[in-house]
Amino acid sequence: MTRPHPRQRIATVFGGSGFLGHAIVQELAAKGYVVRVPTRCPNKAQGLKLLGKVGQIFPFHTNTLSDNALTALIQNCDVVVNLIGAFTEKKGASFQSLHVKLPARLARLAHGADVAHFIHVSTLGADSASLSHYAKSKALGEESVRAFFPNAVILRPSFVFGPRDHFFNKLAVFSRFFPFLPLIRGGKTKIQPLYVGNVAQAVSASLKQKKMQGLTFELGGPKIYSLKEMMQLFLKTTEQKRPFLSLPNWFVHLQTSFFKLFPNPPVTQDQVRFLQKDNVVNQEASSNRAGTLQDLGISAIALEEILPLYVPRAYFK
Ligand SMILES: NC(=O)c1ccc[n+]([C@@H]2O[C@H](COP(=O)([O-])OP(=O)(O)OC[C@H]3O[C@@H](n4cnc5c(N)ncnc54)[C@H](OP(=O)(O)O)[C@@H]3O)[C@@H](O)[C@H]2O)c1
Repeated sequence: MTRPHPRQRIATVFGGSGFLGHAIVQELAAKGYVVRVPTRCPNKAQGLKLLGKVGQIFPFHTNTLSDNALTALIQNCDVVVNLIGAFTEKKGASFQSLHVKLPARLARLAHGADVAHFIHVSTLGADSASLSHYAKSKALGEESVRAFFPNAVILRPSFVFGPRDHFFNKLAVFSRFFPFLPLIRGGKTKIQPLYVGNVAQAVSASLKQKKMQGLTFELGGPKIYSLKEMMQLFLKTTEQKRPFLSLPNWFVHLQTSFFKLFPNPPVTQDQVRFLQKDNVVNQEASSNRAGTLQDLGISAIALEEILPLYVPRAYFK
């Protein structure tokens, strides 16, 4: 007797063309999902197809995020993941629109379409009282997602590292062209960097058990570093020697005001405000409505193990 063919499970990953998106799309494909990836830049997303079997990953070109377009993308989905976000505000893409209004609409539409799982990626340090507009908008986004999709899983990663990351790759370019490395706040801010593969595992682990629904997870790596220690590790890994230059606040302010003239500023005033607070997992996160990587059964990989794999020494010789 032939068995009935089980229905193919479908996931739509908004923001799937980005850094975290690549790892999460690959993880969902490995778990057997057909994955839809809406993107404004299909060229950027073509490589995603190679992360799954033939016909398993579909980058969709979409310039509009109207309710109709979103509804079509969510249709028949089992899982919706929202990764859309930006570290700097641009014309037509404010933090309020990307981190608060869009997640609220996605959560509302996904709930209305009976999607079983909604996973929203926020950030560690999301705080409605923060002076950083990024951190504040992320906290308000979490609230709006919860309001429309109470069972959503919210992930709050610390700085995420891995090939294509936004920190070490920028540092690699900077250290090639500048004779020093600048330190904001003396490089004292504490960070708990997390491997991108562990974020992807967190997504699939949160899908496995019903008890994960409605929880918020604070995600950090196995070790806490100061920003300066992370830069020192980068220099050691790439066998470079660069002095550090501790920038006074007034100079950082002046510099970031100047950077506003650039379409892609290397650092913004808002990022400097974000770095005023440590970015580490709250050890009391393991509570009723909140959890950590351990609660998801994941052991995090150390920065020292992964960094040499994608910032090879030879590149800097
Ligand atoms: N990277 C980290 O260290 C880190 C840490 C904590 C939290 N997070 C959060 O995780 C999420 C993903 O981060 P990431 O590092 O993967 O970011 P990323 O590489 O910059 O990717 C961002 C994604 O958002 C989409 N997007 C950006 N602006 C958009 C707009 N105006 N309209 C429609 N789509 C837009 C992009 O889609 P297109 O293909 O259309 O360009 C892209 O796929 C973000 O919400 C971020 O805040 C990241």
